Amino acid sequence: MASITIRNLDDEVKELLRRLAAENNRSMEEQARVMIRAAVDGRIGSGRIDQIEKTLRDLTSMHVAATPVASPAGKTLPQGTLSGRRILLIIGGGIAAYKALDLIRRLRERGAAIRVVMTAAAQEFVTTLSVGALSADHVFTELFDRNDEHDVGHIRLSREADLLVVAPATADLMAKLANGHANDLASTVLLATDKPVLMAPAMNPRMWAHPATRRNRATLGKDGVTFVGPARGEMAESNEAGEGRMAEPLEIAAAVEALLDAGPKPLAGRKIIVTSGPTHEPIDPVRYIANRSSGKQGHAIAAALARLGADVRLVSGPVNIADPAGVKTIHVERAQEMRDAVEQLLPADAAVFVAAVADWRTENSAGEKIKKVAGEGPPVLRMVENPDILAGVGHHSQRPGLVVGFAAETQDLLRNAEAKLAKKGADLIVANDVSHESGIGPSGVMGGDRNKVRIVSKAGVEEWPEMTKDEVAARLATLIAERLKTTVV
Ligand SMILES: Cc1cc2nc3c(=O)[nH]c(=O)nc-3n(C[C@H](O)[C@H](O)[C@H](O)COP(=O)(O)O)c2cc1C
Repeated sequence: MASITIRNLDDEVKELLRRLAAENNRSMEEQARVMIRAAVDGRIGSGRIDQIEKTLRDLTSMHVAATPVASPAGKTLPQGTLSGRRILLIIGGGIAAYKALDLIRRLRERGAAIRVVMTAAAQEFVTTLSVGALSADHVFTELFDRNDEHDVGHIRLSREADLLVVAPATADLMAKLANGHANDLASTVLLATDKPVLMAPAMNPRMWAHPATRRNRATLGKDGVTFVGPARGEMAESNEAGEGRMAEPLEIAAAVEALLDAGPKPLAGRKIIVTSGPTHEPIDPVRYIANRSSGKQGHAIAAALARLGADVRLVSGPVNIADPAGVKTIHVERAQEMRDAVEQLLPADAAVFVAAVADWRTENSAGEKIKKVAGEGPPVLRMVENPDILAGVGHHSQRPGLVVGFAAETQDLLRNAEAKLAKKGADLIVANDVSHESGIGPSGVMGGDRNKVRIVSKAGVEEWPEMTKDEVAARLATLIAERLKTTVV
């Protein structure tokens, strides 16, 4: 996109531009773009400068900006939870930079206007061409740019945003900000800003675990930087796994929404407990009994409830995904620990039990690794029943006003869900078919990204279409908000 050289304009126009830009809290360059867009759209007639001024004022004032919001390229941005929000995305030089492209899409589809700064290293991984096309704006790369710096562009970039997002946040960018360096456009903008900063780190697990990175992470946390991720899992580099994977674009978008406190808040003032993930029941110090739950659905529900303003306490079993932003997460391993954590969180307005809690544990887990002894055959594991957390809370003296359970079944889905509703003292059971026949994705419901659920309550059964787990979460959060409206606290 061509840039505008303000100093080459007539003095009269420059002065008008200066005043309008100041009134609208825009840079002169941005104000000029808005005006040109209005002219191109044929909304400015010819006439004297004072008539033009009036037309321009009416057409381009921020206060009366017509919705839907226009992007810098003149395209219409969709209305969404981030409508009218301005986000400056800083892309650092890591392999996860490719995910920043999807992040731009996700933020724009929520209505945000995105501007992007790319480090020199980032440009080795993705091109300014792709980023510019997706963000529909000029991509900023240089600190000493003649066109952008006539009005101190690096300060302007940071001031004109509501939020700065660094994704991927490299070890290097974290180190620079933690230590106050400002030797390129990205680090200078980060140091010059007075706006909130969200970082999505991505790096090799050893880089993330290095004491220097741990120190920088702690310093940045104290300085008020918010983090989303990193998560555990396979790295893009071959044969690497561990903590260091960048949070997924949808998780980052959710963190942005949480930080900007975007959207309606029907659950403000409500405390909601959510459980998520599997439990690990130890056999000995190195072996355990587990299941295939990934925590994706439970974490998505916690995030969706938080977006609606709830004070969410997530009790999570061992998972490989990041803690949801804006949610207080308690990490546990065993079913008994999960039960204790949940009970300590009571009283609450609602509780949503998504975790796939192991029904049984070994009676006594061995203190030492069980050895394979020739001729003795395999050990016999004696199992005992684990606490039933849903039933315990469903019949508790401090029972929350709304109790929601999940029923993952491989057969007789509805009959089992209906039986569970009565037996466990739940108000709603979200039943999902986790059998191979569910027909959902190659990886099925457990571990996959999609789900198809039925909502079972005393009123009957409501069948929802197949959706992403985020969509199920958003719809369930809205249903919970509606149910709580009629619940007396
Ligand atoms: C192939 C390759 C992949 C890299 N991936 C990462 C990464 O994921 N995270 C990271 O912190 N650094 C990574 N680096 C190192 C950074 O690119 C390097 O530290 C660079 O100076 C970062 O610059 P920036 O912070 O200005 O973007 C990688 C380097 C190479 C060559």
